[in-house]
Amino acid sequence: MHRIEELARISEEPERLTRTFCSAAMRRANDLVGSWMSEAGMTVREDAIGNLIGRYPAAVKGQEAEQKILLLGSHLDTVRDAGKFDGPLGVLVAIACVQRLHETSTRLPFAIEVVGFADEEGVRYHTTYLGSKVLAGTFNPEDLKRTDASGVTMADAIRNFGGNPDALAGARLDPNRLLGYLEVHIEQGPVLEQKNLSAGVVTAIAGQTRCLYGFFGYAGHAGTVPMDLRKDALCAAAEFVLAVEAHARACPGLLATVGELAALPGASNVIPGEVSLSLDVRHPDDAARGTACARLQALAKDIAQKRRVDVESSVVHETQAVVCDKRLATTLDQAVKRHQTESVLLPSGAGHDAAAMAAITPVAMLFVRCKGGISHHPDESASVEDVRLAIAAMNDFVLLLAQQS
Ligand code: HGY
Ligand code: MN
Ligand code: MN
Repeated sequence: MHRIEELARISEEPERLTRTFCSAAMRRANDLVGSWMSEAGMTVREDAIGNLIGRYPAAVKGQEAEQKILLLGSHLDTVRDAGKFDGPLGVLVAIACVQRLHETSTRLPFAIEVVGFADEEGVRYHTTYLGSKVLAGTFNPEDLKRTDASGVTMADAIRNFGGNPDALAGARLDPNRLLGYLEVHIEQGPVLEQKNLSAGVVTAIAGQTRCLYGFFGYAGHAGTVPMDLRKDALCAAAEFVLAVEAHARACPGLLATVGELAALPGASNVIPGEVSLSLDVRHPDDAARGTACARLQALAKDIAQKRRVDVESSVVHETQAVVCDKRLATTLDQAVKRHQTESVLLPSGAGHDAAAMAAITPVAMLFVRCKGGISHHPDESASVEDVRLAIAAMNDFVLLLAQQS
């Protein structure tokens, strides 16, 4: 818990916690977390995109190249004005689990690699899972051309960070050597708190679509253009935002959010001529998510036509729903039941690196209760008792897996 606090003080913004892909803050975070990995008996490396990876070797020394690997971890980047637990908790629990093995001189028939992923939230370049996609071999090199708000390309950001954008394909892990990936993460929802349980086993991770919308009207003088002659891009966008909310409320299982909105030219006495906004669409069922995206696009067109403005939209990022591995989930469930009376199985509405890692290896997730289900907010919190249980459950999971090997 002290480490959670110490890591949370590493931010690129003085007044709040924001730590984005390949930033100077991420450099400081990797260096600090890397030192904790070393203390836990791991050798530490960074891969070509800036993932931080600690390795705890298997019992059988020497043939490192043949050793199977169990992956543990989560992400070290955050959203803007973030909580302290989303991401870092999973990395620090994994380090604590390995530290316990190290301190008891416990060696396993497989190696463990703890990963602190470089970018799960996608704040800087609007496409998520950059780190886990590189390990999974699903990274899209086209994304290297994306520019951030300051015009810095992803390739340059990686280079400036000390990574190598030309070596990303080579950073893919060998699936034949992987036993699986386990991620501990706060639930970011109310279920465990309602059931008064510390932890639960994740069954599936919802798919998500991130879109970018542009509304194009005509800027004008706020004091002279009559209301009925305006092509106000912000009023059109505002009507669309409320239409998104109404549609999601009407569709069971659908979550739709406009999280970012920018009006140009951005002066109080100028009618906005252009608005860009983000749209995040989630649903447990991929087909239903696709239908919802199409419906919202049609709604945007109707609103734009009625208001005599233009509208454009593009899909910036899309991930399919992922089912967690049944065998790993059963082993994890066994481990949890050693520490709490009952275990609960629950889906994840939030995306996680496990969704990207499922492309290369079986995945499992352990959710930890968080207060009020609050997340992506500074009030995000988890109790030391629940974190202690998560470490113990991960330890038992690893030992059960060793017995099965
Ligand atoms: O947006 C998400 O679901 C995750 O926090 N990246
Ligand atoms: Mn998050
Ligand atoms: Mn997360």
